[in-house]
Amino acid sequence: MFRIWIGTLVIPALMLLYAALSALFPNALGYPRALPIQLKKVANGIFLPWLWKLALAFAALSFMLMQSTRLMEENPQRLIAFAVMLAEALLAAAVVIPVERVLGEQAENEPAEITVTEQAAAKVNLLLNVGRKREDGYHELVSVMQTVGVYDTVTVTAHTGGGIHLTCDEPNLATDETNLCYKAAVKFFTYTGTENDGVSIDLQKRLPMQAGLGGGSADAAAVLRAMRRLYAPDLSDEELETMAAELGSDVPFCVRGGMALACGRGEELTVLSPLPACWFVLVKPEAAFSTGKMYGLIDQRRCYDEDGADAMLAALKAGDLKAVCAAMGNTFERILPPDSEIFAIQHRLRDLGALSAMMSGSGSAVFGVFDDEDRARMACSALRGTYPASFCGKSE
Ligand code: C5P
Repeated sequence: MFRIWIGTLVIPALMLLYAALSALFPNALGYPRALPIQLKKVANGIFLPWLWKLALAFAALSFMLMQSTRLMEENPQRLIAFAVMLAEALLAAAVVIPVERVLGEQAENEPAEITVTEQAAAKVNLLLNVGRKREDGYHELVSVMQTVGVYDTVTVTAHTGGGIHLTCDEPNLATDETNLCYKAAVKFFTYTGTENDGVSIDLQKRLPMQAGLGGGSADAAAVLRAMRRLYAPDLSDEELETMAAELGSDVPFCVRGGMALACGRGEELTVLSPLPACWFVLVKPEAAFSTGKMYGLIDQRRCYDEDGADAMLAALKAGDLKAVCAAMGNTFERILPPDSEIFAIQHRLRDLGALSAMMSGSGSAVFGVFDDEDRARMACSALRGTYPASFCGKSE
């Protein structure tokens, strides 16, 4: 008798299997139609719960009918079982067709691609004490970092064309899988388990490279933020920072920006209250410093700074910009020759009204701190004659 009824359980069993596999691979399976990623999520949200609820209802119905007809002859039982299978198929279609119609209309209005744009802001190190080399090859840092309102622009488009494609207006920057933005996209997909239907990243570079302004790190962090908006809006900042730490030491800070104390190799962040409003002039001379080489020079000369950030933190707590400037410091400046262009730029910035000036990160960009916007903008224009890569931005 069970053989007659087994056919009626095939449809619910397949439905349950499909619902379970779709929960594991929502982008590859799920609602059986190519849809833009956000719409696919909506469709899955409607379709999958119905799928398994209906499957259970069908299975229960077929079991009840099997029980109540078990005393009948085989032929009428076969007829009823066949009618049940037909009813299951019709009912399943009756659920899918209206949903399909609504989603079809939505899909026509919805673009096949979704694009989001994120700004990738520069950072400066108000304080950067480089300590000894650790066993993992990194150096112990105590750093106070501040975001400055000068940006690269990162545009990320989710589509259904497959792959990861990176374009950039700066011809000297590799756009293959060695680029940190590309690595950020791969990291995001792997970490979140999101299926990659296709993503394009466009990078408009404004921030100079090998400058110590965190341009590459800010771009990677902007890719992570953009992808969160596209694929996983519920992801926390902390989770994004965990992914970011695997991309580079400065990337976690760039996820949130603002003002933070960074310790460890740069990834242990404590958010600090913002600086009193001020303006930064960023100047990048032609000389470019490689971060790895600069750390190597510190090791060669054993020129380590083991101090904490007490004076800087006290100045920040008091909201005293002059005291912040007095507490600024950067270990990398100690390995520069006294006639370095870096010091000449610092003198010019001070002459033009900066409260203080310092190299950012491992260089070669120098920043000046101003408490007056007009003075900062005039200094920036004056410096642009000699250093075309000069920028002015507010603390953020
Ligand atoms: O982490 P990230 O890739 O940005 O670091 C670039 C290079 O800077 C590393 O390869 C390492 O040589 C050096 N570095 C370091 N100690 C740190 C951060 C970076 O020695 N805390």
